Amino acid sequence: MINMKTTHNILFQDSRNLKNIPSESVDLIVTSPPYPMIEMWDEMFSHQNPEIQDALANGDGNQAYALMHEILDSVWDEVFRVLKNDRFACINIGDATRKVRDDFCLYPNHARILNYLLKIGFSALPDILWRKQANTPNKFMGSGMLPAGAYVTLEHEYILIVRKGSKREFKTEDAKENRRESALFWEERNVWYSDVWTDIKGTEQKLPKPMSRLRSAAFPFELAYRLINMYSVKGDVILDPFLGTGTTTAAAMTSGRNSIGVEIDESFQNVLCPIAQDIVNFSNTYLQDRALRHLEFVKNRIQNEKPLKYTNAYYGFPVVTSQEQFILFNNLEAVEACRNNIFQVAYSTKPQTWNFEHASESLVGNKTKPHISPSQLSMLNAQ
Ligand SMILES: C[S@@+](CC[C@H](N)C(=O)[O-])C[C@H]1O[C@@H](n2cnc3c(N)ncnc32)[C@H](O)[C@@H]1O
Repeated sequence: MINMKTTHNILFQDSRNLKNIPSESVDLIVTSPPYPMIEMWDEMFSHQNPEIQDALANGDGNQAYALMHEILDSVWDEVFRVLKNDRFACINIGDATRKVRDDFCLYPNHARILNYLLKIGFSALPDILWRKQANTPNKFMGSGMLPAGAYVTLEHEYILIVRKGSKREFKTEDAKENRRESALFWEERNVWYSDVWTDIKGTEQKLPKPMSRLRSAAFPFELAYRLINMYSVKGDVILDPFLGTGTTTAAAMTSGRNSIGVEIDESFQNVLCPIAQDIVNFSNTYLQDRALRHLEFVKNRIQNEKPLKYTNAYYGFPVVTSQEQFILFNNLEAVEACRNNIFQVAYSTKPQTWNFEHASESLVGNKTKPHISPSQLSMLNAQ
């Protein structure tokens, strides 16, 4: 690849109308809407439809819930329109528990959204349960030891995965090569494509500072990064119609994808611009950590005498399958703010020179039983 660049466009507007984004122009949606019936979003929803405030004031939870989803429905209509055929949408959503008047109940946001997505033409695919354990001391507050009066603690969210159309095809040789360079490691695949994610915490992410300040409603960088790398290839266009602090933009920049982020609240401007200043260092450190995690995996696999039959062509490190031979990380070189809220990122097209060669030499030619010498093992240990 020569002169790899990506463009990131941030639009401050209401996503219920995305008329400035052409139909069938987006490759992947990664987003998390405001959650209906979670109190922190009452004002945001009421601002978009004042009848919601009235319903809440009248203690009519079901009506408020229905009206809040009508707002989201209009956004899902636009999402369907702008998405290309044979592409995915990944929507992170949590259900809500709430007492309105004297009735405590669950508002099943994930089911309501999924039903609507199916109604407008998406196909459902297996979803991901994001398990966010709450270790707070009052986790079981209100639930005693006596039966028939307590409620289960809600400690998970969903990542709904739907598709418009059917399986995406990569027909040209260039498209196939780009797909191979966008591949995941075998050990990442085993965790990322599992239907329960337990290893992503809502906190403790190494985020650029401006993002970490507004973490309350933000999803973790790792969540957006994984979804982008699971469901798109380099050079694709990612859309987040509920951009918030810009996590999806940052993850798209790190992944070599283009992005469009739409956010109704202009006060997020103050958060988004500084991200551009930090993203080069942040991304390059993140990519290096990803490579080092792979080396750690290699080390353990060698110690356990499990096979690593192939070698990555760019880095020379061992990999488990032939599909990982051409994984290539593109380090970020520079970010330029070209126009108002449009950023361009330039990438290196050469592989970063990490010192992995010795680790792989010992494996080549010994495909059934990998061996590594003590000095090579100590080199891996030093990574
Ligand atoms: C759950 S937050 C998204 C957080 C985001 N994933 C992050 O990592 O920061 C939902 C965002 O949607 C925005 N929003 C709500 N209604 C909107 C609408 N109609 N159009 C565009 N943005 C909207 C809110 O202002 C809020 O920032």
